Parts: sequence; C-alpha cells; structure tokens
Amino acid sequence: MSATQPSTSVGSEDLLSELDAARLQTLDLVAQITTFDMERVIDPLMSPLAWDLGHIAAYEDLWLSHRTFGMDLLQPELAALYDAFETPREVRGDLGLLTYTEALDYLAAVRARVAEGTRRLGAHEFFHEMVIRHELQHTETMRQTMALGRLLPSDEPPSGHEAVSGTDRPSVVVPAGENWIGADNDCFAYDNERPRHTVVLASFAIASSPVNNQSWAEFINSDGYLREELWSPEGWAWRTDADVTAPLRWDTGEPAAPVANISFHEAEAFARFSDCRLPAEHEWEVAAAAGLLDGTGYGWEWTSSTFGGYPSFQAFPYREYSEVFFGDQYRVLRGGSWASSPRVATTTFRNWDLPQRRQIFSGLRLAADA
Ligand code: AVJ
Ligand code: FE
Repeated sequence: MSATQPSTSVGSEDLLSELDAARLQTLDLVAQITTFDMERVIDPLMSPLAWDLGHIAAYEDLWLSHRTFGMDLLQPELAALYDAFETPREVRGDLGLLTYTEALDYLAAVRARVAEGTRRLGAHEFFHEMVIRHELQHTETMRQTMALGRLLPSDEPPSGHEAVSGTDRPSVVVPAGENWIGADNDCFAYDNERPRHTVVLASFAIASSPVNNQSWAEFINSDGYLREELWSPEGWAWRTDADVTAPLRWDTGEPAAPVANISFHEAEAFARFSDCRLPAEHEWEVAAAAGLLDGTGYGWEWTSSTFGGYPSFQAFPYREYSEVFFGDQYRVLRGGSWASSPRVATTTFRNWDLPQRRQIFSGLRLAADA
C-alpha cells in the first residue's frame, strides 16, 4: 500500500490523546508485573508479555510513522522481528527480543515521532483508529496470558453476577426475515465486517442470557464430558487427547457468572446436551442489533459459524488482519469480554479462534430453530 493522505479534519488532537489513553491503560496493566514475568514464556500458546509491547510499538511505527507519515521505520530489524507472521509464537521466547525496559523505550520513541507527525500532518481517520484498537486488542491478549499465569490484577476479572439476569434457555424468538449484516460505511470497521449486506434468516430462538457456571455444573455432573454422543468427532478427539473434564480455571468461576474459558468443542457439546444449538453469527448480530441480548460484554460467545469473508470481500489494509484466517478452521466469536474495550467489541465485530482454544474469555449463548 502506498502512503495515504492524512486528514486534518478529524480531530487530530483527539486521536492523539486517545492513543495516549490506550497507552496509559497498557502501562497500568503491566506496572504490577515483575521484569522476570514480563520476559518469560508464561504459556507455550502465548508470547511473552514484553513481546506484545514490542509488537504494539512496531505496529504503530509501521502504520503511522511509516505508511501514514512517510517516515523511515525507526528500527527496521525490529519491525521484522515483531511481525506476527514472520515470527511464529513458539520461537519468540529466545529470539533476542527486547527486554522489558527496551520495549518500554521503543514504545515511547515510536509514540514521540507519531505525536510529532500527527501535529504536523494531522491524524489519519482510519489508521490512527486502527492503531488505537490494535493496542486495545493486545491488552486483552496480555490479560489472557496473565490469566494463564495467574498474574491478573486482584480486581480482575470483575464480578460476573450482573452479566446473567434471565434464563439461559433460548426463549426469545426472532421471526424469519431479511436482515442487514455488517458495518456501515460511515464508521471505522475492519475489512471482515464489510460490506454491509442483507441475509435471509429462518425464524430462530436465542437466549437472553449467556450460559452460567451453575448450568455448566449440571453438564459436568451429568457426565457431559464423558458422553461421546454429545461431542463432534473432532471435539471428542480433542477432549480425550487433552483429557479435558472442566473449563479452564473452573475453580475460579462464580456460580451466577457466565461460564468462561471454554473451547468451541465444549460449547457445542453443551448445546447438544441442552437439546439446543449454537447461534450462527448472523443470528447473533441480528438479535444483538435488535437489543434482545443481555449480558453481552462479559465473555466472548462462540457461534457455529466458520470465519469467512462477506460477499465481495476486499482485504484492507493488509491480508494478514483477516483474510489469511478465512476457511473452515476458525470459528467466529461475538460480543466481547470484560477485557475487551467497547471501542473494539461492537455489534458487528467478528473475533475468531481455533475450536480447541480456551485461553480467550469465552462462553456461549444457546439458540434453537423456532
Ligand atoms: C481479532 C483477536 C483474532 O489477536 O490475532 C491483533 C487481533 N490482529 N493484532 C488477534 C489482532 C492483529 C486478532 N483477533
Ligand atoms: Fe497484533
């Protein structure tokens, strides 16, 4: 992509202060972590926390200093090292990554030139917003890593009681019809949320509340993890190989809170156990846009949908944000978690992960044909 014209019309100072606000949250989050824990591999699935910091800086330098303002990269070798696609997670632990202190310096140095560029040339409506949301998304990733290492701040996750109010059975009926799906053109959205288009849906029922830990306990007590007939063949193979008998960190959940840290496979088995199914992502979006869903935003919700492009999808601004993940491998999650910024987790936002993953703060909501 060529350098794009920055635009002074869209509150440059506002976007700059919002970049700074995101940074304050990031620094606040890591302030309580020791240098040792910042630099070690806490879980083989996740990058060291200091890697996320270097990556946030490299991304900002690439998309704002370089692509938006036309500056040379501050440190080209770091841009390559911190590119998520050139450097797989497994080898990130011993690559001569930046130390925690060096990563903090890199973040600050990049931000200084971005501030200078923004004051001189103005903020770019899309790229500044993309970089803000990127940092916010990585603080959620870092919280996943911290949760795996039991390093979350003591007030996180927040109490989940409020998130579950009504029944977690699918009792809200949505009539058949044609519905708009995807993001409007007049706001920031990721390429995978566009274009806005219509889909025809059959009538369906969906729960007003996500499934809570109490309901999940019934699944466990009814041998849900041991009854092969509830699981897909892939799900059963995963469950038996990994010897999964409860959600990750099952010991920490409050009974009335939405169940968290379950895989797609577990969600699917629970839905079958309940004589229900998972909602398709379009069903979820239609119900959410109509204001029918309570308790969103505490945990991501698995859908039955695989991740793909909407009709006439066009990658923007780079294929690696979404397109390289399209296909049958990944499942879509909707809603957002307590660790997500509402700025990121909109009604049209599509998250995705592999069906066996449960480091994400993920639960489910039941649906059924109606
Ligand atoms: C949308 C959460 C799946 O973490 O891989 C971060 C977000 N993209 N950096 C991810 C993202 C580039 C993405 N998810
Ligand atoms: Fe990233």
